[in-house]
Amino acid sequence: MPAQTDATTLDRFERPMRDLRISVTDRCNFRCPYCMPAEIYGDRYEFMPRPDLLTYEEIERIARITAELGVKKIRITGGEPLLRTELPSLIAKLADIDGIEDLALTTNGYLLPELAVSLRKAGLQRLTVSVDALDPEVFKKMNGRNYPVEKVMAGIEAAEAAGFSPLKINCMVQRGVNDHCLVELARYFKERGHIMRFIEYMDVGTLNGWHADDVVSAKEIHAAIDAEMPLEPADPNYAGEVSRRYKYKDGSGEIGLIASVSQPFCGGCTRARLSTDGQLITCLFADTGRDLRGPMRSGADDEELSQIVQGTWAMREDRYSEERAGLGGRSSKIEMYQIGG
Ligand code: GTP
Ligand code: 5AD
Ligand code: SF4
Ligand code: SF4
Repeated sequence: MPAQTDATTLDRFERPMRDLRISVTDRCNFRCPYCMPAEIYGDRYEFMPRPDLLTYEEIERIARITAELGVKKIRITGGEPLLRTELPSLIAKLADIDGIEDLALTTNGYLLPELAVSLRKAGLQRLTVSVDALDPEVFKKMNGRNYPVEKVMAGIEAAEAAGFSPLKINCMVQRGVNDHCLVELARYFKERGHIMRFIEYMDVGTLNGWHADDVVSAKEIHAAIDAEMPLEPADPNYAGEVSRRYKYKDGSGEIGLIASVSQPFCGGCTRARLSTDGQLITCLFADTGRDLRGPMRSGADDEELSQIVQGTWAMREDRYSEERAGLGGRSSKIEMYQIGG
């Protein structure tokens, strides 16, 4: 039987699968306390053993199968994706897949000076760099390793020089930690011509001691920036865009607000995630996924894998962020660094 090419497999809420977010490693060179607290992930912490990781050939195979099922956009995540060896060779394979219109990557930026040019040459289209603060002390505290912010700035310069402009810059906002840094960040990246995005602190995983009081709402973030640099709403770039766009009234660029706690966007969620060890995960807040590595390594052909993916998507009824308040949270969840955000 030929591989099925039904591009409209819908989940239980009639959402198609359009994006695949691929986590290529569970390791990270940072220890952001809200994601991988250093006291838990110390020097002796054992990350996933290498044989458990999907190979690049396996990742490419799953990506091809999902593209046949309607995925148009791939984002590479981690942990920190640039730690995975020879990442540009994976990018080149993914860039070659029919139907993939957008290939992007999210990084903490630390290794970009070494890798930006080869990623670009391999066919990476867009880069998002996380920067939680420009203030040296706040930045050091938030990366958990005392790394200076200059290292990430050097990465951003390397990305600019390699042709990745404009960049998206992601800042996760935590009350009392970096919420006094937002205007400075917005101004700095506005002047450099990049798109600054602020993310509400989410209850991803179970280790960061998340509390609703620590969330700075998109409304508050908007008010702080608008007071200094007036904003006006802008239309989404595409249906289901995670980030709400606002343009500076002076015409000098835009910011984005990712309000997944105060204004959830599950209704338009077309995102599937592939974990480092080959589970297909249908929600950022899931506790588990559908294993694809096992069937793949025991000889499943493309048609069988395609049916597993379709079947998993067809059963999907995730809308965690919309249900959060009613659920009162969930005790078992995949950690952020295992799923890449
Ligand atoms: P573009 O393709 O440029 O529109 O990027 P994006 O905003 O979709 O991707 P990015 O990885 O930059 O997303 C920013 C952050 O939004 C992530 O790090 C997550 O924290 C959050 N986010 C992305 N997708 C989801 C989602 O499906 N659910 C929730 N709750 N948060 C998400
Ligand atoms: N809530 C919101 N954003 C988070 N990130 C990591 N953990 C969380 C969380 N609990 C962000 C990182 C990075 C992106 C991959 O996800 O700061 O910008
Ligand atoms: Fe690493 Fe990103 Fe997690 Fe920070 S948020 S520890 S950079 S994976
Ligand atoms: Fe999608 Fe789950 Fe995020 Fe809702 S909470 S937008 S269903 S990943």
